Amino acid sequence: MKKYFASGRVNLIGEHLDYNGGLVLPAAITLGVTANFNPRSDNKIILRSATHSFSKEISIDDEIEFNAKNDWTNYPLGIIAQLRKENHAIPACEIIFESNLPEGSGLSSSAAVEVLTAYTLLSQTESKINLVWLANFCKQVENDFIGVKCGIMDQYSVALGKKDNALLLDCNKIHHDYIPFELDDYRLVIMNSKKPRSLIHSKYNERKNECDEALRIFRTTNSDYQNLCEVDMSQLNLLSDEILKKRVRHVISENLRVKEAVKVLEMNDLSTFGRLMNASHASLKNDYEVTGIELDTLAETAQEVKGCLGARMTGAGFGGCAIAIVHQLAIEGFKNRVSEKYVSETGISCEIYETQIGNGVTELF
Ligand code: GLA
Repeated sequence: MKKYFASGRVNLIGEHLDYNGGLVLPAAITLGVTANFNPRSDNKIILRSATHSFSKEISIDDEIEFNAKNDWTNYPLGIIAQLRKENHAIPACEIIFESNLPEGSGLSSSAAVEVLTAYTLLSQTESKINLVWLANFCKQVENDFIGVKCGIMDQYSVALGKKDNALLLDCNKIHHDYIPFELDDYRLVIMNSKKPRSLIHSKYNERKNECDEALRIFRTTNSDYQNLCEVDMSQLNLLSDEILKKRVRHVISENLRVKEAVKVLEMNDLSTFGRLMNASHASLKNDYEVTGIELDTLAETAQEVKGCLGARMTGAGFGGCAIAIVHQLAIEGFKNRVSEKYVSETGISCEIYETQIGNGVTELF
């Protein structure tokens, strides 16, 4: 048996910018998904999970199409279908997935399963896998097979994350740099809202369509624009629709915040980084409108706790997780305060855990 691991990710700052050609600053975390790979001598592929009862068995050459009934296995099935289309050899095998990453919580469990499946299968026949290619390949499967018009951020961070580093990804050039993320006495804390994210795919695609529409309007005055992050704040008044204006204001201001965030991280100025996180959350709440009472309660309560430098939602929003940077000595008080306030405001119990920044996809020995 061989074992492979793909991490989840948090996005430190730069939200909803990847599909707008902007800068994002995610990091792989040490929670993730493990694939246990066993070759088979027949012609079957069996997909199982240690956490889900649903499993799927297909023959190597079966037609594969998206089907909601296939539940979580749509992710590995989409990868298998696309690898086959691109003429990669797929071995008969059983893959058992095991995860310690909370699912559906905005920590990219689906990107982790996609990247992990592709990496595991390709590792059987290829000695060196191009990880940038892998990230793009998996993103395309999410877009075309699963039907979510996501950008490249999640698959890229799961594939190329690096321990103790944030990944500054330019989603226009598809180019990355590692930015050391040193927390000293502070800790990166994840707050899971535990809010079911049933509408997330349609809401996410709605935001993407709004941005596409805004870009189309800007291009009527300047056809050189390739993406929304090239537009300047002074041009907002070209938009008459107030909703589109707010969406674009978030996109432009968030891209500037990422640039600033990188500068202050390079100076080791975590306090200013924390303030940028707070501003990012406010913009996602007021202009991009992807937070909701759950994420607002978590982030805004966290921001008020002494010892917390900053807090914001992370990922797509509409439920899922928020993150905070908290002094190690303040963590216990932080957990109590945020949990109490959250349950009293929403009636839901949240989960709060410290996390570390880890490496991207890899074989485990
Ligand atoms: C989801 C998507 C990403 C990105 C974030 C928002 O995680 O999969 O591509 O757009 O939302 O920043």
